[in-house]
Amino acid sequence: MNNVIINTDITQGKINKNIYGHFAEHLGRCIYGGIWVGEDSLIPNTMGIRNDVLEALKEINIPVLRWPGGCFADEYHWKDGVGPKENRKRMVNTHWGGVVENNHFGTHEFMLLCELLGCEPYICGNVGSGTVQEMSEWVEYMTFDGESPMANWRRENGREKPWKLTYFGVGNENWGCGGNMRAEYYSDLYRRYQTYVRNYGGNRIYKIAGGANSDDYNWTEVLMKNAERMMDGLSVHYYTVPGDWQDKGSAIDFAEDEWFITMKKAYRMEELISKHSKIMDQYDPQKRVGLIVDEWGTWFNVEKGTNPGFLYQQNTLRDALVAGVHFHIFHNHNDRVQMANIAQTVNVLQAMILTEGEKMILTPTYHVFNMYKVHQDAERIAVQASFGNYMHKGEALPQVSVTASKSDKGRIHISLCNIDPFNKADLSIELRGLNGTNSSVSGTVLTAGSMNAHNTFEQPDVVKPVEFHGVKMTEATLSVCLPAMSVVTLALES
Ligand code: AHR
Repeated sequence: MNNVIINTDITQGKINKNIYGHFAEHLGRCIYGGIWVGEDSLIPNTMGIRNDVLEALKEINIPVLRWPGGCFADEYHWKDGVGPKENRKRMVNTHWGGVVENNHFGTHEFMLLCELLGCEPYICGNVGSGTVQEMSEWVEYMTFDGESPMANWRRENGREKPWKLTYFGVGNENWGCGGNMRAEYYSDLYRRYQTYVRNYGGNRIYKIAGGANSDDYNWTEVLMKNAERMMDGLSVHYYTVPGDWQDKGSAIDFAEDEWFITMKKAYRMEELISKHSKIMDQYDPQKRVGLIVDEWGTWFNVEKGTNPGFLYQQNTLRDALVAGVHFHIFHNHNDRVQMANIAQTVNVLQAMILTEGEKMILTPTYHVFNMYKVHQDAERIAVQASFGNYMHKGEALPQVSVTASKSDKGRIHISLCNIDPFNKADLSIELRGLNGTNSSVSGTVLTAGSMNAHNTFEQPDVVKPVEFHGVKMTEATLSVCLPAMSVVTLALES
């Protein structure tokens, strides 16, 4: 038996809703085809943005959306993507598949997307191949209310009022595709570029410095030492890759070995956040600067027959467990992790949505985002737990992972992941500190009959959440039977 104590009256800070953020890059069919089809498309759309994708994304309450990259950001010249569409320069997306893009999805279209989704834009500027002036003028174009060359140009292009822009990234992966810089050099460039990312009028920009590649702790150390005072957030990127970068493993054809290593690598996020946070603590003990995990998720080999530069992969129940485990880790570090953005929203890497022409399906990962949206901006609740292990070939991982939160209306939600693909887990959850108003429980479960269960255009509902019957409440104790390889969210009712 696995024992859990949930202290419903001990809260541990807000779970920033931005932990449920997303990332959409000009990569493969994420933007073009996946989100943007253009106004003349036969696919039903709102000013060029496809309606089915829009509705599905609205449902999961996306709080913040990062754009235009990724590696694309450090090659993107925003001025080519504004003004009359017929005059926009075509460009070659050299980093991702060498395809030609018509630049029809630019700043105005991205801001429209955010407005339609009701989310905050998070724009990533170009440090690698762009100038300080170009970055500074982009911010002026988007946020300046008065008379200025850029604000006037925005008006000419059809937008009278400035947009609200809170999150701005000063470059992306500047240790790699963003310029192959050393930490010392980038930290100096960061100081310089961010100087001209101005706050106009009432707009306040939260500046995010390009951060480390997974366990590059030196990068975090140097950035914090040299530029802590000039940043609000520092990013880190970490992908769950079961194999190596040459052969990452298949998204759907895998056995228990790959399942186990994927879970092990997903759990590694805990170690990475702890170690980066420890370094940040030395320079920022008040935890003012947020750790921004603005790229995370699974990365497998592309699906057979697809463009290797498009990073299109299927999404199985394994991805759902990876997502759940990540959310629990982010919740546990809610004192430092202020935002996370899964890579990527549509048709790329660990996507929420896959499209094929006019068809669209939701992935198991999408369903986890939907089940977990109840935790957005809720107070984390203290949990003590001791779980048995999921053993594979002599190696052990905690079989179950748990998180709990309380909404502003006092509603308690508990989410659980059982990563063992063959064994159920019986849990006894003691609820302490209940004030007598919570008397029943309901739940939703996401599971399937096989590790690689996934949704296809022919069978879109193979993996989808259903009502959970494996929970019983007796006074202040929940008895839970978690099916093998499952994600569950419970709600206490009053
Ligand atoms: O998400 C795909 C790519 O992964 C991004 O463009 C880049 O930042 C990272 O290496």
